[in-house]
Amino acid sequence: MEKLVSSWYKDQPLPESYIFPPDKRPGKLLVPKSNTVPVIDLADNRTDIIQQMLKASLEFGLFQVVNHGVPEKIISETRSVFKEVFEMPAEDKASLYSGDPSRCKLITSTSNYDSEKIHLWRDNLKHPCHPLEECIKFWPEKPTRYREVVAAYSIEANKLGSTILELLCEGLGIESGYFEDKLSEKQMLSFNHYPPCPDPSLTLGIPAHCDPGILAILHQGDVCGLQVFKDGEWIGVEPLPNAFVVNIAYQLQVISNNKLKSAEHRAVTNSSDARTSVVLFISPSGDSIIEPAKSLITATNPPLCRPFQSNEFLVNFLPTGKADLALQPFKLKT
Ligand code: OGA
Ligand code: NI
Repeated sequence: MEKLVSSWYKDQPLPESYIFPPDKRPGKLLVPKSNTVPVIDLADNRTDIIQQMLKASLEFGLFQVVNHGVPEKIISETRSVFKEVFEMPAEDKASLYSGDPSRCKLITSTSNYDSEKIHLWRDNLKHPCHPLEECIKFWPEKPTRYREVVAAYSIEANKLGSTILELLCEGLGIESGYFEDKLSEKQMLSFNHYPPCPDPSLTLGIPAHCDPGILAILHQGDVCGLQVFKDGEWIGVEPLPNAFVVNIAYQLQVISNNKLKSAEHRAVTNSSDARTSVVLFISPSGDSIIEPAKSLITATNPPLCRPFQSNEFLVNFLPTGKADLALQPFKLKT
């Protein structure tokens, strides 16, 4: 449990085991934060919102939303209760390390810590959050207000996710409610904590990846770190304290028949400030059939792949983290 970066990082040089190969490092030139990632105001008129979402999803694979309706207080309390988790005495944290990963687990780097060559500069707490009444019993019992605070956050983030999926359906021409049941059945809440890092140019919080599910709704607070790959370069996603970053995940790209693109993104570290991100991952149940939505298919827009079970894709995706490669066996010649 002393492995948690947050427990040992102070006044230490970057250990060798955290140094990425040269082609994967962020390098010396950390890309400055940038204003180019679209920020969509959910108080705008519906038609404009939808058009902006479709454009951003195709060009960037992600966008930010403001005026999203999630009360600021719920966000700030969730962030502070998560901070309290890390400030708890070691014996209180101990039960979380040994947790069942499908229920609730505190880890550092990835769940393959013992076998991986290079560790990630992050600690992570993750648990399912939907349906709430079934999974809340697996959540941390300490801090005592954890369950109440995080439940309120889960409900709000889940609502925001449904709203965004409905807007995307409307924009694409997919029937309303398409994602309502099985396709968004699996919902996980994931807290990333990135302590200040002695050499951010050599390591990463999370290396380049696409999220595999349907949608990720991320709150990054006020510290830079999230970057998206676009047109051959890494662009910083500006931290807006009252915005959520919405990430198109890979199976949504498939369902949209490439009308939406999944963002390739990563998290870099910095030497001065600890950073926390709170992510809701909305994903299909393992037995869901994933295929390009039938309403999108025409003679001129043939399906890019055959139907597959979400689990079949994940089996390919998890060992490599490479979504394109994982989809390969299901692709149709076009
Ligand atoms: C993730 C992720 C980025 C961040 O958890 O999948 O991409 O900014 N996180 O923490
Ligand atoms: Ni991600």
